[in-house]
Amino acid sequence: PARIVVLASGTGSLLQALIEATRTDGYPATIVAVGVDRDCGATEHAAEAGVAHFTVALRDHADRSAWDVALTESVAAHRPDLVISAGFMKIFGPAFMERFAGRIINTHPALLPSFPGAHAVRDALAYGVRVTGSTVHLVDSGVDTGPILAQEPVEVRVDDDEAALHERIKIVERRLLAEVVAAVALRGVVSDGRKAVIPSE
Ligand code: GAR
Repeated sequence: PARIVVLASGTGSLLQALIEATRTDGYPATIVAVGVDRDCGATEHAAEAGVAHFTVALRDHADRSAWDVALTESVAAHRPDLVISAGFMKIFGPAFMERFAGRIINTHPALLPSFPGAHAVRDALAYGVRVTGSTVHLVDSGVDTGPILAQEPVEVRVDDDEAALHERIKIVERRLLAEVVAAVALRGVVSDGRKAVIPSE
């Protein structure tokens, strides 16, 4: 199976979904390590599952570039085929991008290119869109700009608040991310930098 390192900063529910997916029969990828940039729920999910985990916090490093290099080395030590950003809330630096470009998959809680950034659900609600959703994409050096691998819509309800809408989006994200990771692990991805295609079976 493909070796994946999962990076997270949050409660880790997407990580937990990947842990469960990788334990199903025939799933073509295995989580070799989980990395976080802060104390967060993801570490506990990793520990409970018996998965190796490490922390590379920005505040433990002299500057962003030292942090970038440390994160790159910590991830590289696990020799991943794919790196999955599952609620990792930091932008990757140049060292990280140079080492893993084309092999980093991110999930974002909006239909990109709408509502990039750290507050996608709040921004979608504030704008008043009737439909938002989930995007799984390859990471490039921009913020939520990389080639899209999969998207799925989620309807906004009139009485939605950020937490309720985010939870319905996450239900979609958990499944979509596991599906895309499996497809890329099995068949790879072809990208011209703008568009990406996972070859069909
Ligand atoms: C997910 O909705 C993910 O798409 C989002 O953080 C959440 C993590 O949930 N990521 C971003 O907003 C990145 N810009 P979790 O901690 O429950 O796995």
